[in-house]
Amino acid sequence: DEPADLAGRRVVISAGGTREPLDPVRYLGNRSSGKQGYALARTAAARGAAVTLVAANTALPDPAGVTVVPVSTTEELREAVVKAAAEADAVVMAAAVADFRPASRAPQKIKKRDDRGPEPIALVRNPDILAELAAGRRPGQLVVGFAAETEDVLANGRAKLARKGCDVLVVNRVGEGIAFGTEENEAVILEAGGAETPVPHGPKEALADRVWDVVARRWP
Ligand code: C5P
Repeated sequence: DEPADLAGRRVVISAGGTREPLDPVRYLGNRSSGKQGYALARTAAARGAAVTLVAANTALPDPAGVTVVPVSTTEELREAVVKAAAEADAVVMAAAVADFRPASRAPQKIKKRDDRGPEPIALVRNPDILAELAAGRRPGQLVVGFAAETEDVLANGRAKLARKGCDVLVVNRVGEGIAFGTEENEAVILEAGGAETPVPHGPKEALADRVWDVVARRWP
């Protein structure tokens, strides 16, 4: 059976993908299924942690014994994660967060304009929740990010770990048919300080367990 090595620890995990409304029926979103975040929640609970799972637009069963907070937009996700993080020993941002959102949300469905061609969509930057959590972390609290890259996976991952200021960054290659929506993943766990742990192709649960191994080792 699983060791209870996370017993007495509180962890917060974000999962899924945020959606930014354009009008009452449309949104800008992404292909994240939430499976990796749910695997992190299940494994942490199995190892004894008290788990809060902030789930953005997922269609997966609630893991047993886990507090699930459903959200949709980046702002909702930010609010829920920041609130739960105040009491947490670790925060893992596995959600795919929209970098931009529409500058305004139309109160009614946007019409096509046959006479004038397509309507441009003005976007504004979303807050970087991971960078914010890393900058504001409590003593002893670990902040973990995920990075999905389509090219130069390691170089981009190392740069992102430094830029975000988090303790751990899990980088994985994505693309058509790789990672998104599938049951398996392959990644490298990068740590501040330089340690790099490759995790071979396998179930998302196995990668989740390796992430908790690293977190458990880094806790003071
Ligand atoms: O910069 P990039 O989107 O590649 O970073 C991915 C990591 O940053 C993920 O852990 C994701 O949850 C987090 N993120 C965030 N807020 C954003 C964008 C990404 O917390 N606005």
